[in-house]
Amino acid sequence: MRTETGRTIHLADYRPTDFVLERVDLTFELDPTETKVEARLIFHRREGVAPSVPLVLDGDDLTMTSLLFDQIEMDPARYTATADSLTIRDLPASEPFEITITTQINPEANTQLMGLYRSNGIYCTQCEAEGFRRITYFPDRPDVLSVYTINIIADKDANPLLLSNGNYLGGAGYGEGKHFAAWFDPHPKPSYLFALVAGDLGVVEDTFTTMSGRDVTLKIYVEHGKEPRAAYAMDALKRSMKWDEEVFGREYDLDIFMIVAVSDFNMGAMENKGLNIFNDKYVLADPETATDQDYANIEAIIAHEYFHNWTGNRITCRDWFQLCLKEGLTVYRDHEFSADMRSRAVKRIAEVRHLRSEQFPEDAGPLAHPVRPNTYREINNFYTTTVYEKGSEVTRMIATILGAEDFKKGMDLYFERHDGDAATVEDFVKCFEDASGKDLSQFALWYSQAGTPHITVSTSYDANAATLSLSLDQMVPATPGQATKEPMHVPLSFALLCHDGSELTATAISGGTVTGNVLHLSERSQTFVFSGVTSRPVVSLNRGFSAPVVLHFNQSNEDLAHIARHEGDLFSRWQAITDMALPSLTAAASAAAKGDAVAVEPSLLSSLLAIAANEALEPAFRAQALTLPSESDIARAIGKDTDPDAIHAGRQAVLAAIAKAGEAQFEALFKTHSSSTAFTPDAEGAGRRALRNAALGYLSLSKNSPALASEAYAKADNMTDLAQALTILAHRFPDSSETAAALANFEQRFGSNALVLDKWFTIQATIPGEATLDRIQTLMKSTHYAASNPNRVRALVGTFAFSNPTGFNRRDGKAYHFFASQVLEIDQRNPQLAARLLTALRSWQMLEPNRANSAREALQIISSGSELSNDVRDIVDRILK
Ligand code: PHE
Ligand code: ZN
Repeated sequence: MRTETGRTIHLADYRPTDFVLERVDLTFELDPTETKVEARLIFHRREGVAPSVPLVLDGDDLTMTSLLFDQIEMDPARYTATADSLTIRDLPASEPFEITITTQINPEANTQLMGLYRSNGIYCTQCEAEGFRRITYFPDRPDVLSVYTINIIADKDANPLLLSNGNYLGGAGYGEGKHFAAWFDPHPKPSYLFALVAGDLGVVEDTFTTMSGRDVTLKIYVEHGKEPRAAYAMDALKRSMKWDEEVFGREYDLDIFMIVAVSDFNMGAMENKGLNIFNDKYVLADPETATDQDYANIEAIIAHEYFHNWTGNRITCRDWFQLCLKEGLTVYRDHEFSADMRSRAVKRIAEVRHLRSEQFPEDAGPLAHPVRPNTYREINNFYTTTVYEKGSEVTRMIATILGAEDFKKGMDLYFERHDGDAATVEDFVKCFEDASGKDLSQFALWYSQAGTPHITVSTSYDANAATLSLSLDQMVPATPGQATKEPMHVPLSFALLCHDGSELTATAISGGTVTGNVLHLSERSQTFVFSGVTSRPVVSLNRGFSAPVVLHFNQSNEDLAHIARHEGDLFSRWQAITDMALPSLTAAASAAAKGDAVAVEPSLLSSLLAIAANEALEPAFRAQALTLPSESDIARAIGKDTDPDAIHAGRQAVLAAIAKAGEAQFEALFKTHSSSTAFTPDAEGAGRRALRNAALGYLSLSKNSPALASEAYAKADNMTDLAQALTILAHRFPDSSETAAALANFEQRFGSNALVLDKWFTIQATIPGEATLDRIQTLMKSTHYAASNPNRVRALVGTFAFSNPTGFNRRDGKAYHFFASQVLEIDQRNPQLAARLLTALRSWQMLEPNRANSAREALQIISSGSELSNDVRDIVDRILK
């Protein structure tokens, strides 16, 4: 394991390698504990590099058993091999040479799931970011592109399947019950995109004909017996391939595209060239075992990994600082795909909820970093929501600033100019500048300045002059290493709404640039003046969340209600409801803290119930409106000295008031949408279920009884309804006999299905209140728990820490201490997983002083742990700073 090195890598230090890698031939002789890897690498010295400069290759925990130079054993005086590097001296000045390295590795013992490991008897690899160096010594960096030939030798019975990147060359018997297969990938690629899979799996097969008429074989490999559960993933794959042709003009480029589902995986999935490897959670689904959210995730992640074939693989990153070049862009692409497949507005609301609840806290706390960081200690810790989701928002803003046509031109230019390159963010931005003629230099600050911009807005209307003035101030908060900031270019989409709800077309006469319905804020302070405004309009700002900012705009409840009723942009209608709800929720929290009665703004109640009742609106949207801001949203609105118990109590009181005011309506909604139509996993069916279950939640509150949810649990014929009913039971009535019965029934029904059991763990881990810690400790002793399985750890410990504010932040600090011991324990086995979990404490400084002190103590316990991984060391140091 790589324990802390404390070494910091700087973007400014980038320089190309001294040697160019021409070709890679790898031969794997697979064995569970003694796998032999022979790597034949052909290099030549880069022009201008002095002959005295040695070749230095990366390694991680490697044992070398032989080293040949041009097929002859190398003189030990000419090289130095350690577990972490191989240095070779006295190499030719200019002509190519061949190095053959043999290493021996132990896949079975590889618990960090980086490099070559075994999951449920399946050999698989994970090489991004720096896993390839755990297989052999290599220039393991993304700007080293090479063509790979792969030979795999393994026991035939145990491993009928031998897979790698590219196209299948052939295979045959190999004696002694073994066989081999050879693969060739003609597309030069960096080592992080290498993959190998071997084992015994079932397959679902299909074909896709590309726009130029080539037939591509599609294969999804899953555990035997699970093939039917891969049908939706296959459907999503074909839709992704078609969409990328239609919308981005991108066609697939090999004869075969494979996906393999494995059950032990650190992340969601990986875009290895032609051989994607997936966490099986994002492949397997059927109505009985998958929720609507699972289906949506599968569709999005299948698309995401497929889209990487162009944005990531054909155009890759020059160095890991450029990670957003592939991730931000690919998330943007998968968001657009899902928006086209489903309801655009509902998808946008879900994205923004996610951005606010995950990325905003990251950007406002000790782990804040730019979309393109300029230093790192451990790259694994930069697969963050800032790089991914804020990175996607930055791409979206480019599209907003340029308009659809020029954005398309810029993308085309990017593909044309950089196909086959290891590119940078500058390369990317330049394409949009060249395609549009626009100067994006100020805009590029979005890549280098961390922190969510805060924008304060005020308006004044002059009836005599028929003008409206809109004043905007921007402030980007200080973040670690960045005390002061420059003003950013913020594209704010807007509408001026008249009395009757129609949109006013006014002319911007001064103050700044307005293009179409986008206002370009670029100075610290700016006042835009519009003329021809004959009556005071209601301003709807940041429509569709055109910029990832926090708006401070004190609009009256009447104005917000007007937006909630009339905006053409559904996202903004939802936003108006949210803006009305937040003050009630923060006030409720302080009332609850003082033991006072909680009052709910009547206009919030009426707007909310009007939207819920509006049959002209799609059910999924109505369900979103009924889902109030979360406890962490409220904590963020309060901003400091937060008390999770008060926030929870206040929010529950507001929910109860809504439940009471809307009881008749919720009964009607629940009935209408319960009618048993056949299950379809599409957005429409999902929307109906979401609305019905939102109504069920409110009804259970107003009746204060588990009876309805218990009945819904018994009647459910799909996992969405079942899991929702169980959640209501467990979270609202944790000690009822109905809840105990339903939990036992669920366990008994799905005890052998790991992915469904994860839901059982998650539902229990998120039961509000102090008692949940005990429950978690009991559950960890259950035979269902598996500390070596990342999904299971995340389902229990992860959701407790990330999604149970009252349980995790219990007053006595015991949950923090439990968590610290878990992080230390997991770190021994899987540093990446431990470090990721630890980020749950990133906002500890916002807590009221008692809890903050306990959290700090727990962090100090972690910090003083012996043998911390580099991953956990990096996070704990930054969080405590
Ligand atoms: N590159 C993967 C994706 O976003 C994520 C990943 C990163 C997976 C590192 C594994 C390891 O599609
Ligand atoms: Zn990705």
